[in-house]
Amino acid sequence: MYGLPQGVSLAINLLAGKIEQLKSKSLIIAIDGHSSSGKSTLAKDLSSILQFLHIDSGAMYRAVTLYFLRNQVNVTKQEAIDCALCEIVIDFEQIEGHSRTILNGEDVEKQIRSMEVSQTVSDVAAISSVRKFLVMQQRSLSGDHSVIMDGRDIGTVVFPDADVKLFVTASHEVRTQRRFDELVSKGVDISISEVAQNLKNRDHIDSTREDSPLKRANDAIELDTSHLNRGQMVSKALQIIFERSEQTKEQIDNTI
Ligand code: DC
Repeated sequence: MYGLPQGVSLAINLLAGKIEQLKSKSLIIAIDGHSSSGKSTLAKDLSSILQFLHIDSGAMYRAVTLYFLRNQVNVTKQEAIDCALCEIVIDFEQIEGHSRTILNGEDVEKQIRSMEVSQTVSDVAAISSVRKFLVMQQRSLSGDHSVIMDGRDIGTVVFPDADVKLFVTASHEVRTQRRFDELVSKGVDISISEVAQNLKNRDHIDSTREDSPLKRANDAIELDTSHLNRGQMVSKALQIIFERSEQTKEQIDNTI
């Protein structure tokens, strides 16, 4: 397990029995939500605890965006987009317990988190052919593993039959502060108002695009993380996953 903070270790100890039961199941867990709502941290912690494969689908949209920026792909021309997509191979590698995004053999984990990519990614993610290309890859990367995938359309489009669906939210102020702290800790020189504006723009594009807009699936459980620390977030999510997976099992038992 990679370096989990004390609060998370405490949650693991309290829920040890349930965690063992969950580990023995084959589950698809879909986690959707706005940028900086805490969904990626939650997905990473859960995958580390449950030893499930974690796929950060946002990283895949970021990798495509980086490729488009580097190669000056003309996104107004469908042919240029299709040609570029043919050249893109995205993978994930585990390095010292951390997942790294690999674009055509190059570790681009740092580059895909840059402000330039963050400012362009929502526009690229609104292109239908890009979504089709990545949804196919997301399903095939999952194979028949137990998987935790986080993004915007996982419970609605990628895995509409997921065993457990979480919709993670947090207030705009909390999300702005989290994103600002994350960027500052990485040495990025940025003001809090620039971060707030970037989040607003991305929320707007992500929720209003025509193809697979961000929305809560009808059967998703909402988890507001505004006032939760990392340990509380993990323990609430584990309880929900446990209860939901038991319900699913009951439904299957009843139909046999
Ligand atoms: O989670 P993130 O901030 O790294 O995601 C980057 C962008 O990718 C985000 O603006 C919306 C888009 N995205 C998407 O449209 N569908 C997904 N499943 C994941 C991300």
